[in-house]
Amino acid sequence: MDVHSHLVFGVDDGAQSLDDAVDLMTEARATGTRLVFATPHIVPPYLQWDASRARLARIQRNFAALQARAPAGLEVRLGFEVTARPHRLRADDDPGRFRLEGTEFVLMDGPQAGPWHGDSTMERLVRRIRAEGLTPILAHPERRASWRREPPDPGFAERMKNAGALLQLDASGLTGADGPNTDVEARRLLAAGLIDLIGSDGHGKRSPVRLDIARDMAAAVIGEAAATRLVDGSALGL
Ligand SMILES: [Fe+2]
Repeated sequence: MDVHSHLVFGVDDGAQSLDDAVDLMTEARATGTRLVFATPHIVPPYLQWDASRARLARIQRNFAALQARAPAGLEVRLGFEVTARPHRLRADDDPGRFRLEGTEFVLMDGPQAGPWHGDSTMERLVRRIRAEGLTPILAHPERRASWRREPPDPGFAERMKNAGALLQLDASGLTGADGPNTDVEARRLLAAGLIDLIGSDGHGKRSPVRLDIARDMAAAVIGEAAATRLVDGSALGL
């Protein structure tokens, strides 16, 4: 099961066309994935990746189109990747509308390659989602290790975990495709038992929607059984 992908085409920096999305789904199925969540970015108010009614309708439409083209044996569900912004902390903003379909989990965007808008509200959004009775999944905590010129924050992942988030490693973090130091940090987090899930975070092009290579690399660190639990859906009770 892949908890994090940008299969919904034409709505963010993920797949750009239905054909792109079909190619990505075909590769996902061929490499062992049977359930994938399509999780477009929600980043108010930037990049026109907001949660406006028009954009959510477009996401629903394009999701339905790709779901109709899913290869046999691959279930595709809709979710979102929510960036921590003050909008998401407003009392009337219901995080439940961003849950991963059929679950009580909400995927949150984690650190980027350098400081950015979401950092200052990340921990508060983790706590807010918990307070609503849902469980946040924080994506790619390992990316925090690639920041330059800023002080390192070796306790970042631990702090998010303590605030109540599950931690989701990116496949590209583990393979080293996601920038310097992320692969070292990915292994440290795995060895420390802090990682709950591996997701592809696949965007297409050089960023595939596949988990098999990362699962094998994780197995070299924590063993076969523990690595399989990071990709078999058990973290979500599926
Ligand atoms: Fe993502």
